[in-house]
Amino acid sequence: MRLAKFLAGAGVASRRASEEIIRSGRVRVGGELVLDPARNVEAIDEITVDGNRVGEGPVKRVVYAVNKPAGVVSTARDPQGRPTVVDMVGRSMRLYPVGRLDADTTGLILLTNDGELAYRLTHPSFEVDKTYRAVVSRPPVRERAVRALRDGVQLDDGPTAPARVRRLAPDTLELTIHEGRKRQVRRMCEQVGHPVLSLQRVRFGPLRLGDLPIGGVRLLGAAEVDLLRSAGRGPGTKGPGSASRRVTAASPSAPKRARRGSGAPGPRRASS
Ligand code: URA
Repeated sequence: MRLAKFLAGAGVASRRASEEIIRSGRVRVGGELVLDPARNVEAIDEITVDGNRVGEGPVKRVVYAVNKPAGVVSTARDPQGRPTVVDMVGRSMRLYPVGRLDADTTGLILLTNDGELAYRLTHPSFEVDKTYRAVVSRPPVRERAVRALRDGVQLDDGPTAPARVRRLAPDTLELTIHEGRKRQVRRMCEQVGHPVLSLQRVRFGPLRLGDLPIGGVRLLGAAEVDLLRSAGRGPGTKGPGSASRRVTAASPSAPKRARRGSGAPGPRRASS
């Protein structure tokens, strides 16, 4: 197994962060300094990070759903001293956020110590859907703007992939995208003439925010974590895209019934 993958699986950090840790000279295998994240290792190898042995004994993998309030940052630490989503869970275990929400965006964010799962949920190649509710300015949002968002709009870092878009009210849109570019929903809405006033994430892959209260934290059950593991495209996917089965972050119950193929956006483009 690749060294970076091993470290991520052992809960040291996400796969990308593990690659950085290796390159920065903090990792030894059998006493030898290793700088190559692709180095092949076995679980029986003595692997240390900063001198501490990794992979001794099973690490309990956990995933938390958090309903992030505005003003809380979704990094593990904030140089400006703002509260973080990691503080909200308050575990001694090392957890990191799965992807990012802007400080002013509210809603569902996942935290985990499972680097492989975090990789699957955030790497663009898996195209895991995320759904947002946006209250926008300059209502009403006309059909032309909705169509433009569905087809993809031109942003300064390239065109967006087709999105699923519903108008919930004259000033409220629900957008489902699988890309994760910086402030993407805000920039998409601005591009069609409706700057965002408030933004909430209501779904991440198969998991819905449900009625988890703002500031609420919930440890996910095994069935929910299994669904997350098969979210998106690619190996291990149980259904046609991450919208195939859904559970709610508010209730630990297993999904009731598979829902297939609703409102697919048409041909998918590979994301960057
Ligand atoms: N898109 C945004 O514009 N902001 C977020 O926080 C998430 C998606």
